[in-house]
Amino acid sequence: MRAAFYQFNPSFGKKEENVKKVLSAVKDIKVELLVLPEFFATGYQFVSADEVAELSEPVSGGYTTEFLLDLSRKKGSYIVAGLAEKDGSIFYNSAVLIGPEGFIGVYRKTHLYSEENLYFTPGDTGFQVWETSIGRIGIMICFDWFFPEAMRSLALLGAEVVAHPANLVMPSCPDAMPLRCLENRVYAVTANRIGIEERKQGHPLTFIGQSEVVTPRGKILIRAPRDEEVLMVTEIDPATARDKALNTFNDVLKDRRPEHYGSLHDERKM
Ligand code: ACM
Repeated sequence: MRAAFYQFNPSFGKKEENVKKVLSAVKDIKVELLVLPEFFATGYQFVSADEVAELSEPVSGGYTTEFLLDLSRKKGSYIVAGLAEKDGSIFYNSAVLIGPEGFIGVYRKTHLYSEENLYFTPGDTGFQVWETSIGRIGIMICFDWFFPEAMRSLALLGAEVVAHPANLVMPSCPDAMPLRCLENRVYAVTANRIGIEERKQGHPLTFIGQSEVVTPRGKILIRAPRDEEVLMVTEIDPATARDKALNTFNDVLKDRRPEHYGSLHDERKM
């Protein structure tokens, strides 16, 4: 199947302009899976609670979800995309999975990064995997990559493809994802953004691009440049992610010794 990401520079607060850009980018492609960046329709650097309240949307019936539902139906693609979610008076950094058959699920970011903590509530969905006609899809959002437990949780739930909407600013993720994929034998599709946002004077954020698709063997199939808007497509075979055997004796999931990992569940002691 064909998997794609669209890496671009969303304009802060301009949802219509940003969704138009997505429409134009995907106009001539036919893919089974499309991944868009974290907060792709709103931009990233919120600077007040009022702004978050104004730009966030309920997942059900919200402008961005409706746009994605329509796009998915028209293109026949599954789409994973990040959005600012409003649930009553609570705001989450979320990503939705949508398919030609309709809305499938929402994941709320578990590990909030930096000033996201001022405006958003840590996700309460936990990691989830959805069985679809193109394979088992899991989601993590940007900074979740820094916690190996995120990808591991998804792998243990049977994920074959991990969709990873991102707005990366730290440099290491693109080179770390091959290890995350290798140790879990899953595909990852990281859709990052580019550009600079300086909505808070003296606090510019430079997004590092380098969106990529990585195989369960840790090979980078495609990687975008740091600073170009680009839609890239590659062929993947999610079923190969089911094979966790390294050799006759070793299996990356079955060989785990959780009886020795008790401290993973505990508060930090040091
Ligand atoms: C990030 O989690 N957006 C860095």
